[in-house]
Amino acid sequence: MKIAILTSGGDSAGMNAVVRAVVKAGILKGCETWVVREGYEGLVKGNKEYNRQHGAPSFRAATTTERPDPSTNILNNLRFGDGPLLKEGTGDDATGRTLRGRYIVRVGWDDVRGWFAEGGTLVGSARSQTFRTEEGRLAAAENLIYEGIDALVVCGGDGSLTGADVFRSEWPSLINKLHEAGQIDESTMKRHAHLRIVGLVGSIDNDMSLTDMTIGAPTALHRICEAIDNINTTALSHSRAFVIEVMGRHCGWLALFSAISGGADFLFIPEKPPNAATWQDEMCESINRHRELGKRKTLVIIAEGAHDSSLNPITAEDVKNILSDRMALDTRVTTLGHTQRGGRPCALDRIMPTLQGFEAVDALLESTPETPSYMIGISENKITRVDLMEAVATTRAVAEAIGNKDFAKAMSLRDPEFQE
Ligand code: F6P
Repeated sequence: MKIAILTSGGDSAGMNAVVRAVVKAGILKGCETWVVREGYEGLVKGNKEYNRQHGAPSFRAATTTERPDPSTNILNNLRFGDGPLLKEGTGDDATGRTLRGRYIVRVGWDDVRGWFAEGGTLVGSARSQTFRTEEGRLAAAENLIYEGIDALVVCGGDGSLTGADVFRSEWPSLINKLHEAGQIDESTMKRHAHLRIVGLVGSIDNDMSLTDMTIGAPTALHRICEAIDNINTTALSHSRAFVIEVMGRHCGWLALFSAISGGADFLFIPEKPPNAATWQDEMCESINRHRELGKRKTLVIIAEGAHDSSLNPITAEDVKNILSDRMALDTRVTTLGHTQRGGRPCALDRIMPTLQGFEAVDALLESTPETPSYMIGISENKITRVDLMEAVATTRAVAEAIGNKDFAKAMSLRDPEFQE
């Protein structure tokens, strides 16, 4: 099996650990491993243009005898493996030729050495518009077949994983079209009749259903905690109020847990919007009570997707104005922005992607045209395989329920044991 892995959508800590795990697990299980640069955009662009200009690069052929024996202890295998197929740190192949114009690149064991500790995604990510078109997906299919790749791992958020499943369900018609257009012959079409796909959820938002945690969310939460600790110093010194806006798109997970871990006085999340008519009074009363009890500082956390029960957006500036005007608090706004998405992954964002990456390779090896595309998740501390489309559909239903003010439904979809 030839496996390619790509990262897509917003970067998150732990994506590199996913790439590393898939490459290493793939090699250990006798597969050839590739990375796709720049997400789906790289899949659409492929290598044809590069090869037309420069000729196909020659990789050092990995011989079967060099491959570690998967049945032996993993630690003994660390000395072996394919690679490096890229020259370290240069983006060049082992013969010194630049690979910068190539989007689908063969990688070996040493190419991903130490990647578990690197933030963001070293293979690049993009929000590709072209892949949303059938034309783009046709080019992507041709590029994969051109390199002989028959298995794809996608690490990204719900949009990226939906794209993966659409690609797989369209696959038979895409290869038919390529055959009719004379791009691939009959035997190639037969050889590539089945595209194996597995998704892993890389997102700081922790907004995917049917998994307890997304890759990058624990690190982002930790970043927010550190920022709150720093801000608390000034808040305490000057007896100020701070309104901190955190990311999460339509999901309040980062806001909720940073509020708990940072000792916030008030919190706004999309899943539990405050009453449109009364929230301002309630917030002031609550903060007043805390101040009367002797608190010198005030902290309000607001999720970027926050709104009231009538779906009117609530912004950090709105909250600041209320605290300044009605409570005469010296108030500042801090929008943490991309500081919470970057930096080195915490331990959990190395462990979880490593275990999930190995599971992803097993799922690919066991994939048949009848099995669904799997999403690798984690549930009650166990690595799981769930139907990717079911996870995406539930995630969408949650967002829709919030948009329709059916907040109880949204909460019960997230947590079946939820009671209002
Ligand atoms: O989905 C991850 C995320 O960081 C969201 O929390 C945020 O809304 C969005 O991406 C920001 O996207 P961009 O980096 O494209 O501005």
